[in-house]
Amino acid sequence: MAVSLRPLTLALTKGRILKETLPLLARAGIEPLEDMAKSRKLIFPTTHENVQLVVMRGVDVPVYVRHGAADLGVVGKDTLLEQGSDGLFEPLDLGIAPCRLMTAAPVGFTLPHRRVRVATKFVNVARDYFAREGVQVELIKLYGAMELAPTMNLADMIVDIVDTGNTLKANGLEPLEEIAAITSRLIVNKASMRSHHGTIDALLAALSEAVRHSEAA
Ligand code: PRP
Repeated sequence: MAVSLRPLTLALTKGRILKETLPLLARAGIEPLEDMAKSRKLIFPTTHENVQLVVMRGVDVPVYVRHGAADLGVVGKDTLLEQGSDGLFEPLDLGIAPCRLMTAAPVGFTLPHRRVRVATKFVNVARDYFAREGVQVELIKLYGAMELAPTMNLADMIVDIVDTGNTLKANGLEPLEEIAAITSRLIVNKASMRSHHGTIDALLAALSEAVRHSEAA
């Protein structure tokens, strides 16, 4: 079997997902050689000689992995639902950063007798959801702070991630319907899976064990 000298690149989602990913990686024998939280660098060699880490916004992780610029990635299921999984394997639910993708609206909201305006960054998920529900919507793409849209009369409803529900509450909104339960997933480039299957299989086994250990704790 040919052995590649190129290290595998694992793309991580910065923020809360990164904080919850690092302990799992450590348990699987992969620790960055410097403190990622204190560094402005974006590429980190690790204690595992065949793995380097790169860190980026979640929305970019599947892009790097799909194109093979990263071999593996850790990203929220919300991002995968929105972007689709072409070119990717999704072999492992890491069980971290759990939350829900939901519709939400101002407290006491009732559907208007016209097309419902929905603000979201998850336009593909929202389009599919409301089509299934038979509700006619006008989708308004935003990139953050969706909770502002109803208050500012930009939209009637939003589709967004809900964790504690505090952001909705603080902005006079309430959760309505759950569209999907979300956790972070390990994704793998399909070509990398073939060319590096030995290293990737070992990594998958170690990470699966780390997930089982943290779920049992
Ligand atoms: C997410 C989401 C909500 C908030 C929900 O935003 O978009 O605004 O978290 O969490 P809560 O239910 O615990 O209040 P995040 O802070 O991840 O930033 P984003 O706008 O970049 O997605």
